[in-house]
Amino acid sequence: MLDGGGNDDQSSRRLSAEEKAELVKIAQVRFDEDMAPHTTLSVGGPADAFVEIANEAELKAVLAFAETKKIPYFILGSGSNVLVRDGGIRGLVLCLKADFAGCQIVEERDADVFVQAGSALGTMKFLRWCNDQGLTGHEVLTGVPGCIGGNIATNAGTHVGQLSDVVEEVRVMSAEGKISTLRKKALHFDYRQCKLPKGCVILSALFRLQRVAAEEAGKKFRELMERRKATQPIQEQSSGCMFKNAGKISAGKLIDEAGLKGIRVGKARISDAHANFIVNEGGAKAKDVLILMGLIKERVKQNAHVVLEQEVIVVGEDENAKDSK
Ligand code: EPU
Repeated sequence: MLDGGGNDDQSSRRLSAEEKAELVKIAQVRFDEDMAPHTTLSVGGPADAFVEIANEAELKAVLAFAETKKIPYFILGSGSNVLVRDGGIRGLVLCLKADFAGCQIVEERDADVFVQAGSALGTMKFLRWCNDQGLTGHEVLTGVPGCIGGNIATNAGTHVGQLSDVVEEVRVMSAEGKISTLRKKALHFDYRQCKLPKGCVILSALFRLQRVAAEEAGKKFRELMERRKATQPIQEQSSGCMFKNAGKISAGKLIDEAGLKGIRVGKARISDAHANFIVNEGGAKAKDVLILMGLIKERVKQNAHVVLEQEVIVVGEDENAKDSK
């Protein structure tokens, strides 16, 4: 599961009454669902159909429905790295639930412990579970928001490493409903990205971790969390870092040096704690955030001659596009 997967090149027409009736028979659906509560930045207009998927059989049926009817779908993880425009999302937003949020040790071999984690499992839950099991290696994700599926799709990480350092393989369902296991090499992980087959949905991942002495368990995690609390606005509504770092240069540092901390548009503000975060002070619109992102790109280019690439995935339509349909 990822923020950003799907088949978004299909037409963006509205669902007919018959299609809606068919869809509710397959899975739990809410129509015209406001997306703001489903994203950590808390902005965004309504999704035509917000589909909660309980298990693999339901997922297969929903994907078949979307393929047959040529309806686009967008896979939402925990909405922590996604900016939904104010006009909302046409087609289906798929959100994986219960069956996809498990975690278990599947094998121990020599010093290695292999852990299978579901794509809908929250990253922090996964990390705490690993601490409790006395494992190490998972700390590369310390403080990263979101869920395992989203972390895979974006090869999430911190300054101590990235997910691809500890993942072995990923189980996916194709748009045609076929389940397969992709080895790490086939996913071509790179800085904050990987190559997944188009339209596929991440189901789970296998991690290779190690055992650590009981008194050491969780120590590295706690140190990294303290650092994160001290340097990032973790109590505020945000999407984490908005831009990718430029090689070894922190995008936050570049934005800071361009003098942009504290700048506001509407209720969106460039954080004073870390300049690569845009925070929602309450009631911000996606439009405000997008204006700030444009300003950041322009000023950093002027100031440091660096073209920043956005990390956050921007989806949906502008407000005017929705009104004109
Ligand atoms: N810095 C500034 N001003 C700022 C922000 C940072 O001068 O406003 C400086 C810091 O003082 C430090 C350097 O830039 O010297 C690096 O800062 P930091 O340690 O915060 O790391 P980062 O490169 O800005 C990356 C990840 C974060 C992750 C941190 C900590 C990216 C785009 N960001 O930030 O990930 O939490 O390392 O490991 O890779 C995210 O992906 O959403 C995210 C927040």
